[in-house]
Amino acid sequence: MKLLVTGGAGFIGSNFILYMLEHHQGYDIINLDNLTYAGNLENLTSVSGNKHYSFIKGDIADARLVGDILNNGVDAVINFAAESHVDRSILEPASFIRTNVLGTQILLDSAKEKHISRFIQISTDEVYGSLGTEGRFTETTCLHPNSPYSASKASADMIALAYHETFHMPVLITRTSNNYGPYQFPEKLLPLAITNLLEGKHVPLYGDGLNVRDWIFVTDNAEAIDLVLHKGREGEVYNIGAGNESTNISLLKTVVKLMGKPESLITYVKDRPGHDKRYAIDPSKTMNMLGWSSRTSLDRGLKTTIDWYEKNREWWQRVKSGEYMKYYKKNYSAKGLKTQ
Ligand code: NAD
Ligand code: TYD
Repeated sequence: MKLLVTGGAGFIGSNFILYMLEHHQGYDIINLDNLTYAGNLENLTSVSGNKHYSFIKGDIADARLVGDILNNGVDAVINFAAESHVDRSILEPASFIRTNVLGTQILLDSAKEKHISRFIQISTDEVYGSLGTEGRFTETTCLHPNSPYSASKASADMIALAYHETFHMPVLITRTSNNYGPYQFPEKLLPLAITNLLEGKHVPLYGDGLNVRDWIFVTDNAEAIDLVLHKGREGEVYNIGAGNESTNISLLKTVVKLMGKPESLITYVKDRPGHDKRYAIDPSKTMNMLGWSSRTSLDRGLKTTIDWYEKNREWWQRVKSGEYMKYYKKNYSAKGLKTQ
């Protein structure tokens, strides 16, 4: 197969590319990413010389570029490209609407025109909104997004499903809970906490710390997406989650303990506006229909992740200092340039 992975220089996209190249020898992967602050080709250094992998710097909203890429025998599009951080969406929603909504629609149009045989839209459990203390999100839970980020992702989901109904496009959607693992940008809770603790700094905890998230190790998500790509039914949504619900305070206390740091480094700060109280995913459909189950317990995943950030200080120090961006500005400025 030849895959177009968009947003492949980000956290989940790069982990997915590494997973696919390891598990599907012979597959060709084109990574289209416009390298926003969240895109980092250093995540993919280990495969930059692989003849089955290529990188193109460009925007999913650039219809001509996407059309040219799809002309080269692409079988499937897996769309990870997005603005992905809730706090940024509160400060500056416009780029979220542009990339997550308009970008997805343009990508869908190009895929429709070229009769691509599979289009996987990578979505999030946040489209379902916030839960009380009971119940979990299923694929039929009504969408009730509360942040500009989740509203933009819910819009993209609706448009993608409409393209399936109206144009019979082979669209499939994955909705995943909070991912964690190597190469996650240190603005999200876990990499921010781990790297701050490694630097001896405080870890900001929003509000009362009792918001609940449902955590999944990123490689388990990659495996589920691989199954959706190969075995999923067109027009269907697949929830992906590992059943690891935790309050933020409890999660941070575990991290602090695993790292041998004092709990006093956890600092309560002002809450995020519109902060969703609880997410919890019911992944039964994906488990029953596709034979998937998560392999990584939260305890093992956290140890692996902490270990990775301890051993890869240069990676996150370059991200935190902004050095990685300077490098790209110098080397990867030409639009659409094939660089790896
Ligand atoms: P990320 O922010 O780490 O990566 C996003 C990538 O998309 C970056 O490499 C960025 O450069 C690229 N990008 C942004 N705009 C682009 C554009 N217009 N054209 C081309 N590339 C563009 O995000 P992530 O955490 O890896 O998330 C990937 C996908 O998974 C997103 O769609 C997100 O909504 C979804 N998701 C993430 C999580 C999570 O916990 N991180 C959970 C559920 C779903
Ligand atoms: P985050 O990693 O931003 O993911 P999301 O908002 O998509 O769930 O945040 C995870 C949880 O941690 C969320 O409840 C907000 C909270 N949080 C903090 O308490 N402190 C922080 O510094 C950050 C970034 C998040």
